[in-house]
Amino acid sequence: QPALKVAMLGCGVVGSSVATMLVENADDLAARVGARLDLIGIAVRRPERPRPDVPVDPALFTADADTLVRSADIVIEVVGGIDPARELILTAIEHGASVVTANKALLAEDGPTLYAAAADRDVDLYYEAAVAGAIPIVRPMRESLVGDDVQRVLGIVNGTTNFVLDKMDSTGAGFAETVEQAQALGYAEADPTADVEGFDAAAKAAILASLAFHTRVSSADVHREGITEVTAADVQAAREMDAVVKLLAICEVVRDEAGTPSGVSVRVHPAMVPRSHPLASVRDAYNAVFVEATAAGELMFYGKGAGGDPTSSAVLGDVVAVARHRLAGGHGPSESAYADLPVVDMGRA
Ligand code: HSE
Repeated sequence: QPALKVAMLGCGVVGSSVATMLVENADDLAARVGARLDLIGIAVRRPERPRPDVPVDPALFTADADTLVRSADIVIEVVGGIDPARELILTAIEHGASVVTANKALLAEDGPTLYAAAADRDVDLYYEAAVAGAIPIVRPMRESLVGDDVQRVLGIVNGTTNFVLDKMDSTGAGFAETVEQAQALGYAEADPTADVEGFDAAAKAAILASLAFHTRVSSADVHREGITEVTAADVQAAREMDAVVKLLAICEVVRDEAGTPSGVSVRVHPAMVPRSHPLASVRDAYNAVFVEATAAGELMFYGKGAGGDPTSSAVLGDVVAVARHRLAGGHGPSESAYADLPVVDMGRA
């Protein structure tokens, strides 16, 4: 059976789960791909650190990410952050590797550089895990709905803030107290800034808007407001109106007087969602993306948006997809950013 060389960058919560699935499901993955996926190395900052939970040969851990990516067929980037992830992905692509990444911050900041590099080299850059973890949303937006016209995307794309707002709704407690509870339960990080200030959701909104409207939206273009100012009284007021407060990522086409698309509005802010709307039923740390398209009508994608195993499900799906493309001697769809619509800041409109 042919084999493809797989290199991993990072072995944190998601990376450990990806490595475990690659090893434990090796036979099934080989059968699905039509080639073995041989893990040739995992680049980490401290290769000597014992990792008893990750069932791979300890000799596979290396600090030399740059050398590793040059000899791989497929590079899985689960390090996160901008640098050195960007350089390593570009090096991997330059050397002809297909790349699978979960890195929403990098894609939202500098995706076009990476997409162009992959297109130039005729390799895949897949990133299903970058938006809403396990939920298939990138591929539906990039492929299934690409023949339709998406008008609006409403997303609950941050599990931590949904958990906090949901608990505030069910207990009547305030923001600070609920964040502390979420931290104690392991939902919120010790520094919850990226989640509660909406940075994580804004990166995902930028990626979703780029895909939905075939244009380029970066995280800096996104009007962003987090949930730190949401009070118990706000949540109670929403209840009285038969609504619930959710942190929404809202991506919409803006039209001129003649109805011609003239721009896109992309924003993240707390919003009152009527309890009759499907997004109101998204509880705990779950995510959901509600899409309105001209021909398809309304669609909702729902599931776990974070966590090692759910995110790994999306990563492994991409790995199998790009591996199949390599065996067939081709690649999947490139980004179709032809629309060139400006991003219009409409505030909380
Ligand atoms: N911290 C994110 C969340 C998960 O709470 O949804 C990773 O994007």
